[in-house]
Amino acid sequence: MKRRAGALTLLLLLSGCTDGEREPAPAPSPTPAPSFGPGAAGAGDPYFPTYGNGGYDVGGYDLALRYDPAAGKLSGTATITATATQDLSRFNLDLARLTATTVIVDGAPATVATEGNELVVTPAAGIPKGRGFTAVVSYSGQPGQLENEILGAGGWLRDGKKGAIALGQPESASTWFPVNDHPSDKATFRLAMTVPDGVEVLSNGTPGNRDTVDGWTTWRWTEESPMASYLATVVIGQYRITTATHAGRPMVTAIPESLPANGPAARSLARTGEITDFLETRFGPYPFRANGGVVVDEEQIRYALETQSRPVYGNTFFATGENTSVVAHELAHQWFGDSVALTRWQDIWLNEGFATYAEWLWSEHNGDETAQTIFDRSYRAFDWTEAPGDPTPRRLFGDAVYQRGGMTVHALRKTLGDEAFFKLVKSWTTDHRDGNVTTAQFIEAAESTAGRDLDSFFEAWLNGETQPPKP
Ligand code: TRP
Ligand code: ZN
Repeated sequence: MKRRAGALTLLLLLSGCTDGEREPAPAPSPTPAPSFGPGAAGAGDPYFPTYGNGGYDVGGYDLALRYDPAAGKLSGTATITATATQDLSRFNLDLARLTATTVIVDGAPATVATEGNELVVTPAAGIPKGRGFTAVVSYSGQPGQLENEILGAGGWLRDGKKGAIALGQPESASTWFPVNDHPSDKATFRLAMTVPDGVEVLSNGTPGNRDTVDGWTTWRWTEESPMASYLATVVIGQYRITTATHAGRPMVTAIPESLPANGPAARSLARTGEITDFLETRFGPYPFRANGGVVVDEEQIRYALETQSRPVYGNTFFATGENTSVVAHELAHQWFGDSVALTRWQDIWLNEGFATYAEWLWSEHNGDETAQTIFDRSYRAFDWTEAPGDPTPRRLFGDAVYQRGGMTVHALRKTLGDEAFFKLVKSWTTDHRDGNVTTAQFIEAAESTAGRDLDSFFEAWLNGETQPPKP
């Protein structure tokens, strides 16, 4: 979100010079007044131009919330620490369906207006470029879903009379907190969620202290590694929580009380540590301070999501028995998608291609089908007219992104050889840990590891509409 007030500023300066009067220009003031302007209403993603906002960079979200499951009502405050990336007269936050009652910026009340799913915040004084600021938003309401006709609804979902689940990609966070809702603006995340005593709360990161006052319990979770907003989750309801330590990190898994304590869902999640250990041997060190997973038993959630350090799995994945493939997929995203995150949604194959490839590696590791066998089958049957390099918003989660994305990773491995390929993968996850990347950067990294030009390889695999040569 490093946007500049370029063209407009220049225009104003130019019009100032074309003044018809021929009087000598006044001496420039030693400290010219900076030109303050509003932050953009979108982060500038070509696929989803309205997602996120411009003009500032969030460092952290600190949420103190209360949820009343019986009423379906959420209320509380979000303390947002951010830095202005331009001289800022006002800025937007994404917030859907909820009402902000007050916004305080650096201790002074700001003016706030609502425009659709955006809060427009005008601080009492402008914020100069480069200056840190704090916005405290008090808000409440009945949270709900963001409708997305193409990709399916996302966001806050009420789950029975006792619970709720907040989840969704490519956007969901704005249904439960004011946010710069685009993956290019990563931030740390702290949640204190107060619910009726006896109800459980799961979220990202490390669990903190819990306390109970007057029949309400506050649960605390902290994700200290910068996180893309769609990777934030909260799951509220009746869960069996298992807390352990794996490789020195808190390992928190949860299964709904509606499911058997030792059923296929529980047994699959119990493999999280072992699968993480395996992926570390291929991708390098696990990037976060906590680990785990949450299974949800909600008929509308028929997918899993790589929510940071604690993926959420719809129980449909475990309907026919243990399923470690989906666990390997979501854990692989902790490296590819979460720690090394996207700058723009178009490059989604960088997430899904590697996560799919991790399933193939895990299969081979278990003595099941090898990555080569899976590649060969996929290669024979694929409809090559659809390419992953520019999948379009409609097909953001289509086969080209997942299957052809996975095939692209395998083809790259065959092209580079194992030594160079795994060296590339490990330097990629190390160099861009906690960062944001583009496909162009990945191609550059691959070329630098290979020591040669790979343009025609990537062109064929990412953009070609015919079958690329078999590697
Ligand atoms: N990224 C998820 C995965 O591959 C899948 C997914 C796509 C998803 N769209 C979603 C999950 C919307 C939840 C909501 O693991
Ligand atoms: Zn995935």
